[in-house]
Amino acid sequence: MASVATMRGHLTNSSLLRSDVLIDGKWKGAASGAKIDVEDPFTGQIVGSIPSLAADEVHGAIAAAETAFIPWSREMNRHRGALLRRWYELVMANQEDLARLITLENGKPLKEARAEIAYGAAFIEYYADEAGRIFGETIPPLVPGRQLLVEREPVGVCAAITPWNFPMAMLTRKIAPALAAGCTMLIKPASQTPLSALALLVLAEEAGIPAGVLNIVTGKASMIGDILTASPVIRKISFTGSTEIGAQLMAKSAPTIKRLSLELGGNAPLLIFDDADIDLAIETAMVAKFRNSGQSCVAANRIYVQRGIHDTFVKAFGDRVRAMSLGDGFDPATDIGPLIDEAGVAKVDEHLEDALSHGAEIVAGGKSQGGHMSPPTLVSGVSSKAALTREETFGPLAGVIQFETIDEGIRLANDTPFGLAAYFCSSSPATIAKASRGIESGMVGINTGLISTAVVPFGGVKMSGLGREGSRYGLDEYLNMKYICHAGL
Ligand code: SIN
Repeated sequence: MASVATMRGHLTNSSLLRSDVLIDGKWKGAASGAKIDVEDPFTGQIVGSIPSLAADEVHGAIAAAETAFIPWSREMNRHRGALLRRWYELVMANQEDLARLITLENGKPLKEARAEIAYGAAFIEYYADEAGRIFGETIPPLVPGRQLLVEREPVGVCAAITPWNFPMAMLTRKIAPALAAGCTMLIKPASQTPLSALALLVLAEEAGIPAGVLNIVTGKASMIGDILTASPVIRKISFTGSTEIGAQLMAKSAPTIKRLSLELGGNAPLLIFDDADIDLAIETAMVAKFRNSGQSCVAANRIYVQRGIHDTFVKAFGDRVRAMSLGDGFDPATDIGPLIDEAGVAKVDEHLEDALSHGAEIVAGGKSQGGHMSPPTLVSGVSSKAALTREETFGPLAGVIQFETIDEGIRLANDTPFGLAAYFCSSSPATIAKASRGIESGMVGINTGLISTAVVPFGGVKMSGLGREGSRYGLDEYLNMKYICHAGL
């Protein structure tokens, strides 16, 4: 068996590794030759580079997507669906290589990277089928001689701005419904994790997605964001990332009245009620907190445990956290890989220090160990004043807070301006009904910490965003309704 070191950069299909971008069906670098390096977060080594495009090159990509829009939107829906299905098959055929690229640029354990490819590919498969189900409507008229129709048309040229934490799945859940609807698209992946995005486009091209339908722009995020938001050609932007940047994009999109889908910050609560099954509660907490090393908008940030089950839960959860292995994502034994960068590690350390200064105690783990390595950590006795109850930690630090009554638990869960995901564990139908109705959140997981799949509407309320991704509702985000009143019949 190859060693971890030799396996690190190896791809079976070497054509997937690109250092240029696809615009209008042509792979090209920046005319200036400017590049941005891509770093392996575990070794700190440079593992690739991408073009740092100039403004006129971004405008060129917008023009290419505009030219491609009319022919693509007039394609038979069945044909668009067939191309998406072919793309899905190619993605799954290259699952291992794509997963390696993600581990290389993001650091996540290879087993999680493989799962992300399957999760991301499922959006392509789902919308390949949905392309053929974009139906209109007739409405009974109120006066004779009229036919009232509702047709659904693609929004136009769209842009997707995506984060580094799920570099593949966050793209496919925007691209697949856009293309199924008949929109064309520009994608701007995070500069930390562009390699898997470029590989996805290699496969899209191989699947036969026509030139200009899907284009990728890389470079200075603020410059590209300003061009995309200001452009009257771009009719919609879909963004996954922080609430702060989402609000800026929203403000900058206002003058051109764009449609927006914003999947923003989380700060998810997990409530463990006294009547929860303890094994299920531990499993839920493990997944809700430590999936993707806690670097997820749906990660449980605040774990509220009712007094009767508190001590048993903290002990058993602590044992599981202590047993997790921190290391190289390419090592099959690794549960928690490196965090994306030093700022990510520093934030986890700050939240830990702050929780301790407010009286919390370490049950497992502790401070970072140099590099990007932040150990899986559990603290109990966290005060509601601690930063980790207020803002996303985005790392493998779990904080437990004790509560007394069901109403208090629900009140604490809702004590946040965010409302993306929430979780709770209970075996009582009455508690389940009360909590699932009482919690202010776009998504609720009951007795599970894993709620994400392509077939459900993913999205938040309050400051966690606008719109939904995945499911048939995710397709609506890329369709406009046209009402047609046909009189004189
Ligand atoms: C996210 O962290 O933004 C998305 C996570 C998911 O899709 O499960």
